[in-house]
Amino acid sequence: MRTDRGWSGPDEALASRVDMTLGPTPLHMLPRFSREVGVEVWAKRDDIGSVGLLGNKVRKLEFLVADAQRVGANVLVTVGAVQSNHARTTACAAAMLGLRCVLILGGAESGTPSGNYLLDRLFGAEVELVAGAGWDELEPMLAKKCRDLEEEGQLPYLIPAGGSTPVGALGLARGYLELAEQCAAADLSPDLIVHATSSGGTQAGLEVGRAILGRGPRILGVAVAKAAGVLEVEVAEIATHAGRLAGMDRTWRQDEVAIDHSQRGHAYGASTAASQEAIRLLAHTEGILTDPVYSGKALAGLIDLARQDRLRGPVVFWHTGGTPALFDSNLGPPLIE
Ligand SMILES: Cc1ncc(COP(=O)(O)O)c(C=O)c1O
Repeated sequence: MRTDRGWSGPDEALASRVDMTLGPTPLHMLPRFSREVGVEVWAKRDDIGSVGLLGNKVRKLEFLVADAQRVGANVLVTVGAVQSNHARTTACAAAMLGLRCVLILGGAESGTPSGNYLLDRLFGAEVELVAGAGWDELEPMLAKKCRDLEEEGQLPYLIPAGGSTPVGALGLARGYLELAEQCAAADLSPDLIVHATSSGGTQAGLEVGRAILGRGPRILGVAVAKAAGVLEVEVAEIATHAGRLAGMDRTWRQDEVAIDHSQRGHAYGASTAASQEAIRLLAHTEGILTDPVYSGKALAGLIDLARQDRLRGPVVFWHTGGTPALFDSNLGPPLIE
């Protein structure tokens, strides 16, 4: 079956990327952490590698940037919070490929630039900070910015929050297949993948990868922002459209999308005692860093399920990155006494 982009099926769709990860990210066991939580846990290390500290967003950007090149765009334009990993990764990808990058970020300067915001500037992105703006305001600003750039004679490529479009999600479908190959080589049959979920593209892409393969570990997203009910619908929708791009005729239902909503805390970005404990535990036992906004909360979800004896193992903790937020002292109470 040919897709609306002319791809003949999964192989062609998943090859339509700009290689920025430079090879598979490592998969390895976490022996001391596993002993602590009583379940065999492996880490898929999307937090390390090329592209400005890597993270799950690079996988989406490999496909989004290829799409931008396909349509001849010369400016990447996106939105996010001031400490957005996605915005930082977009800025880095643009620098790598010699493209202009415009970021519209909700937030204000607070002292010396730090974390992702510092990196955005270092990568040469043009940053517009909009104090007090919520998502409802940022998305129309993004569209307007693209119209303004077009009037200036530029060719902008609009990337919505988190890069969670069906095209972006293909990156994680490819990631799922990469994991499957690594598991086969290690003679490993994980039961479950646990990862942080927010704008939904990561989880949707992993779902599509599993569907392409027709087998493999189930996927559990740990929600850090959106409410129960809303996120499941969005993940199902992105998965359905990403699946179509890969030549699949399948509609995902929201009840097929597994999300743990117990770790969010009182708000997106708000630190929780459980995520702080999780960050400390992984750092102490394995020397691996997670962050308070995303990966720390996902890990807290995994630990909670392990302690309730609800994990069969082996489990893959898909480390989606986000480490720069560790260095933003505005994010919650200090991690150490
Ligand atoms: C470090 C990190 N992990 C996980 C996610 C969640 O990915 P998604 O937005 O695709 O659900 C994000 C998104 O911003 C992220 O930055």
